[in-house]
Amino acid sequence: MSDSVSIESVLTENRVFEPPSGFSESVGGAYIKSLDEYHALHKRSIDDPEGFWGEIAAEFDWFEPWSKVMEWNLPDAKWFVGGRTNLCHNCLDRQVNAGHGDDVAMIWEGEPYSLSLEGEGRGEGAPPGNGGTPEVRNLTYHDLLTETCKFANVLKSCGVKKGDVVTLYMGMVPELAIAMLACARIGAPHSVIFGGFSSQAIVDRVVDASSKVIVTCDGGWRRGSVVPLKDNVDAACAKTDMVKSVIVLKRCHNDVQWTDGRDHWWHEVVASASEECSCESMDSEDMLFLLYTSGSTGKPKGIMHTTGGYMVYTYLTSKYVFNLVPDRDQVFWCTADIGWVTGHSYIVYGLLPNRVPTLMYEGAPNFPDAARFWDIVERHKVTQFYTAPTAIRAFMKWGDEHPRKHDLSSLKVLGTVGEPINPEAWMWYHKVIGNEKCPIVDTWWQTETGGHMITPLPGATPTVPGSCTLPFFGIDAAVVNENGEEMPVNTGGLLVIRKPWPAMLRGIFGDRERFIETYFSRVEGMYLAGDSARRDERGYFWIMGRIDDVINVAGHRLGTMEIESALVSHESVVEAAVVGMPHEIKGTAIAAFCTLDPGHSTGDVAQLETLKQTLRTHVAKEIGAIAKPDMIRFTDALPKTRSGKIMRRLLRSIASGDTDPNQDTTTLEDFSVLAKLRESEEG
Ligand code: PRX
Repeated sequence: MSDSVSIESVLTENRVFEPPSGFSESVGGAYIKSLDEYHALHKRSIDDPEGFWGEIAAEFDWFEPWSKVMEWNLPDAKWFVGGRTNLCHNCLDRQVNAGHGDDVAMIWEGEPYSLSLEGEGRGEGAPPGNGGTPEVRNLTYHDLLTETCKFANVLKSCGVKKGDVVTLYMGMVPELAIAMLACARIGAPHSVIFGGFSSQAIVDRVVDASSKVIVTCDGGWRRGSVVPLKDNVDAACAKTDMVKSVIVLKRCHNDVQWTDGRDHWWHEVVASASEECSCESMDSEDMLFLLYTSGSTGKPKGIMHTTGGYMVYTYLTSKYVFNLVPDRDQVFWCTADIGWVTGHSYIVYGLLPNRVPTLMYEGAPNFPDAARFWDIVERHKVTQFYTAPTAIRAFMKWGDEHPRKHDLSSLKVLGTVGEPINPEAWMWYHKVIGNEKCPIVDTWWQTETGGHMITPLPGATPTVPGSCTLPFFGIDAAVVNENGEEMPVNTGGLLVIRKPWPAMLRGIFGDRERFIETYFSRVEGMYLAGDSARRDERGYFWIMGRIDDVINVAGHRLGTMEIESALVSHESVVEAAVVGMPHEIKGTAIAAFCTLDPGHSTGDVAQLETLKQTLRTHVAKEIGAIAKPDMIRFTDALPKTRSGKIMRRLLRSIASGDTDPNQDTTTLEDFSVLAKLRESEEG
């Protein structure tokens, strides 16, 4: 077992926050009102998963009923076996058919403040209160249905059929959600690529999924500048002949190159598309989407999610974890980008069936100033707010004056996701944003799990800063050793899930072996999450970090291997090792140790500094700006074990400035390498 999981934890946290009195009334009745109620229902969901999930699934429209709720042939789960449905139908048509067509389904706010419609300066932000108004669109279920049907017909006219993967590489605009729903409607799995990724990332994903159609935008707004999305797609298409059609939404009006026959403007093709498009009848186990995520080795893996189980699970977790109640003036805002699983599950698919408006914001939290999020909360009267610890730490740093300028009294539930939240940030969130009145739901989950796995329920679970508390219904989570035996209280071990749950991944696209190897081989018979954790005296879970070579930078998962490969692909680098190091805002920052080709390693300090910049830019080009190393060190050799494995543990401690003389180095091949690394100064 890796050393990171066998240590005894020393952190004790004694602050316990009961669900605030009055919480239940404030949300129109808490669904789960006490810890006893939670435990009773959790027990039922574990003892009788078929009864529990069958009842929830029956709230949805099914074209054909299922014959069996669940089938489990490790590692393969099937949910609602034989059932046929369509998730787009359940998000949109079902609401319209029930007379809710005119209810607001989505509130969208663009980034630019005071958007002038023509000429230069378009999109430049003016501070709020300076006469500017942001662009806001309210889309009803009826609007979404019409637009989705039209776009589904466009996809069909591009030759997209059930089972064909459609790539979506767009900014945070309503058309991204519309394109996802259109794919779901016609049974074409979507593969959303985060708009911050580079053209190489597009090539890798498009080729892996054999995706012939890309939907993109001319550009995307980010902190007042235009991200050239279409240019990146063009660069990707130059490297593969896989892509036959590119549909381009005009958003930023930036200049774009055009390839006749391949490229089509969204507004032009949609104009002539019919508003009628029937839903494809999908088997419950038909693929809904692919989402690529980083693993410890090799290329990103395409995580496969299917229709029925994902639909039911994201609906119920959204409902209970955020206490969503329709017709109570609730507005739910998840600040994640749809390029990540959080946006899939908690901006789009989990929200629409709950009939509470989902707010989507296009841009940066500090544009035009550091109060933007709080300005949005106030203007839209956001009731449930869901963000990441890295954002919370940034808000803390920017200063309390920004949230204090705004009326945040509409807020009822605060959520966090993506990485462990340090107790200090938790307390700040609780006091400054929640005014000590809002329960905080610290939700632990993963791309692979589809939805929340370990999380408080806001009206029931007493919270402790830094702990994600207790498993959701149907989740049999445990902390175990390699033999699958539970660890004693407060002792670190491997976080596993012992029973299948509806939204669990169904595989890695095109790589069955890697699926089994990654998740089901280290501990027999259980899903291995890849995180280490401990449970405290209350049974609460504390996530301690990853056990593999994945680092979590600002809540974004990156494989150290991917970054190493990007570095080595530059002519100057012979060998590279990448590790995480603690960072005040990002949680973890990227540290890279590189050995250089002799032709490049002899330069003076200034030349080496320039090379560091070149390498940072190179990584940004290969993967995306989020993968840029925060620190690069050049070294003569990397510390290795006798068997040739890079000693990452040592590099981690060097990167974080730890000079513990007791550090175990008995397997280190060349001690002088370590001594040199410790001496060398970071540039
Ligand atoms: O290490 C855990 C961390 O993020 C990983 C999953 O990353 P990803 O698949 O990109 O999904 C992120 C959004 C669901 C986990 O293995 N993580 C996620 N949420 C938490 C967390 N770590 C601690 N506490 C959390 N609440």
